[in-house]
Order: sequence, then C-alpha cells, then structure tokens
Amino acid sequence: MAAKQTLTITDNRTGKSYELPIEDGTIKAMDLRQIASGPGDFGLMTYDPAFMNTAACRSAITFIDGDKGILEYRGYPIEEIADKATFLEVAYLLNEGELPAAAQLERWERDIRFHTYVHTNIIKFLEGFRYDAHPMGMLLGVVGALSTFYPDAKDIHDPENRYIQRVRLLAKLPTIAAFCFRHSRGLPYEFPRNDLDYIGNFVNMTFSIGGKHEPNAVLQRALEILLILHADHEQNCSTSAVRAVGSSGVDPFSAVSAGIAALYGPLHGGANEAVLRMLDEIGDRSRIPAFIEKVKRGEGRLMGFGHRVYKSYDPRAKLIKQVAYDVFEQTGMNPMLEMAIELEQIALKDEYFISRKLYPNVDFYSGLIYQAMGYPTDYFTVLFAIGRLPGWLAQWEEMIKDHEQKIARPRQIYVGPARRQYVPIDGRR
Ligand code: ACO
Repeated sequence: MAAKQTLTITDNRTGKSYELPIEDGTIKAMDLRQIASGPGDFGLMTYDPAFMNTAACRSAITFIDGDKGILEYRGYPIEEIADKATFLEVAYLLNEGELPAAAQLERWERDIRFHTYVHTNIIKFLEGFRYDAHPMGMLLGVVGALSTFYPDAKDIHDPENRYIQRVRLLAKLPTIAAFCFRHSRGLPYEFPRNDLDYIGNFVNMTFSIGGKHEPNAVLQRALEILLILHADHEQNCSTSAVRAVGSSGVDPFSAVSAGIAALYGPLHGGANEAVLRMLDEIGDRSRIPAFIEKVKRGEGRLMGFGHRVYKSYDPRAKLIKQVAYDVFEQTGMNPMLEMAIELEQIALKDEYFISRKLYPNVDFYSGLIYQAMGYPTDYFTVLFAIGRLPGWLAQWEEMIKDHEQKIARPRQIYVGPARRQYVPIDGRR
C-alpha cells in the first residue's frame, strides 16, 4: 500500500492533532495557520531567514541537483546547451519553454535586432555620470530609466505587450552595457550594427576603435558560452529580487533594474573579481602551499570554491575550464591561469576541501577569461547581467502568469519594544 502523503502534527500546547497534505515534498506554510494555541492566537507561522528551506514558487524553467552537480534549462542538460545552442536560442528556450523551430528563431532574432537602438536621450543621461562611475551603478540606473521611455510597459497583463518589453530589454541591454564601457574609457559611443549577430554586435560596440574591430570567432564563442552558462540559476538572489519587485505589478524595466542591483552585491555577482584579487595576493606559484595552509587555519577563504547549492563539482565550472583553455590558446598563457590550475589541483586533493565538499564554482575561471578578453575587473558583473537577463525575464513572465502568486510580502517576528507612550523632547534622556 502506498504511504499516505500527509504530515501529522500534534500541538503540545493544546493536545490537538492536525493532518497536513504533503505535495511535491513540501507542506504549505498557510496550512499551519489553523494551528493556534487558543482564541485570539494568529496561528503558527514558519521562520526562515534567507529562505534557506522555503519554496516561493513553482517553476518549470531551471532544474538544479546540487548534490549530483546537475543543471538543466527546461530539461536540457547545460552541457549540451552550452555545446550546441546560441545565446538567443537559449533566451528563447527559457522564455518560451521550447527550443525554437527555424521560423520562430528567425522571428525572435529579427525582433531583437530591430530593437537594439536606444533613444539618444540615454546618451545625455549617461553623460551625467562621473568618469569613474561603476558600470553596474550606471547599468541599473539606465535600465530603470528605460521605463520612462516606454510607459506602455506598465500594461503587464497583455501578453503581446510583455513580449515586446522582453524583446526590448534583450535587445537594448548589450547596447547600454557597451555604452557604459565606452563612458568609463572616455570613448565615443559605437552604435549597434544590425548586420552582426547578438554577440558580435556587443563585442563590436565595446571594442571598436575608429569604426574598426577585427572579430575573433573563438573569443566570441567563448563569451557566448559564458553568457549561456549564466542565463538562469532558478531562485537566486537577483532572480528573487526581480520576482519580488515585479510582484508589485511594476513594469519589467524597473523589476530588472532591481535584479541588476542585487547582482551588484559582492556575495552574488562579484566573486570572480575576488578570485583575481586572491591570485594577485598569492602572487607566485611557490606561495600556493602557504596560502592553502592559511585558508585551512580559517584565515580567509579560497575564493571561487564552494557553493550554497552545489556540493559536488559545479557543472558550469567544468565547462568554463574548457573555455579558459580555448581562450588562452588565442590570447597566450597567463601566469595567473597557471597559478589557478595549480591551486585547483592542490585543493581538490586536500582533505580539508574534500571533506567539506568544496569544489570550484562558476567564478573560479570566469574572471580570468574576461580579463584575457580585455574587460576591466569592475565590468565582469555587467557581463553576468547580460547573461542572466533571459532568466530574469523568463522568471518574471512565469510569475505574472502564476495564479497562485500575489504581491510578495513576507511575515516577521516582531522583537521590538512593547507598546509605550510618546515622550515629549524635554522628557527624553
Ligand atoms: N574556502 C575555504 N573554506 C570554505 C570555503 C572556501 N571557499 N567555503 C566554505 N568553506 C568552509 C567553511 O569555513 C565551513 O567550514 P567549517 O565547517 O569548518 O566551519 C564549511 O566549508 C561550510 O561553509 P559554509 O560557509 O557553511 O558554506 P555555505 O554553503 O554557506 O557557503 C559560499 C557557500 C558562500 C559560496 C562559500 O563556499 C564561499 O564563501 N566561497 C567563496 C566565495 C565564492 O566563491 N563565492 C561564489 C559563489 S557562486 C556565485 O555566487 C555565482
């Protein structure tokens, strides 16, 4: 006989028992509300700071098994997707649920190409930033400002309208990102070239000098793979920010700028930068053993190792390592990469890292690759944002269509003072 899919809870305050349904390995937090100690009691809540054990939605987009090191987009293993698909195909897959047929892909690419230009007032807006403004600060400001250029984006309940806004964001983010890059360097803005593909156009807008840039197919495919590997990672911090802000009914430009703000934080988008700083600090291969010993004594961490979800090799890290070899074959071997490879070898054989299931994560090699491609360190997170955008948009769309969702509004446990009387200023100490 199949076991009953329920959970029986006895409240020892009242002696009452409750039988709650178990569905998809979860119980509904709202089912706990009926458990009250007596009249006037609000009912039981769950306490879960940082959402360590709470599913906030049902999602059909990305599957992760952290113990087995599995990542799938709409059921397709990341290894196959990264090997065979283009970034825009992946964006379509995440957003529309299926790989596009030839005609669908053609329309998708054409629609995105059609929207790559930004209003020239965006340039005036960018000029207001200081010469040394952080590119992520610029990016989140400009993307938020786009909502004022497209007031029709407020109509989030019209599917056709949502499609156009998602296309606009996918089309314009590389343009804005490239403009931020040019602003930081004091270079004139290079406008989109719609005869180029998505990645080729972005690279051209960032690196073209005097209207000329010699494309390198290996480096462009490497960048495309890195963006694909970052395209979605289910309910991470920035995606949760997009969903929470979007749940208020705001337009997608504002919701995505909240996602960019979340990604700006060093615990989320900035770890690859920290890997480069760490390699700089080690400075030489001969100093690796001493550095490892320092980490094992608890004095600092091996950056780019460990993950909250992956407790085996991050599947993206494996793929990125291969990309690193392809890129360095083009740009020349770099002593930093040699040091990273040796550091990884030593750590993977060390009992401290083995017993704690600490493996390289996606950030261990990505910073080195971006640096070799010519991007400055504070620009790495901008590349992450371009990669993650399809995921943010797919999750936003899924959230809007989900009838179980309402405005995101967690509960709290109040721990402040009990009710007291206002004290006039001369009575305060
Ligand atoms: N180097 C050395 N020791 C580590 C590391 C590390 N990178 N990561 C975890 N540990 C140790 C901890 O000290 C702890 O040891 P203890 O049990 O002896 O106290 C044990 O492993 C468990 O660590 P937690 O902090 O509980 O693991 P958690 O899952 O919370 O942390 C995190 C995950 C934040 C990614 C962590 O591994 C870390 O700080 N890594 C380095 C930073 C990094 O690379 N971040 C990028 C993450 S990927 C991304 O955001 C896109």
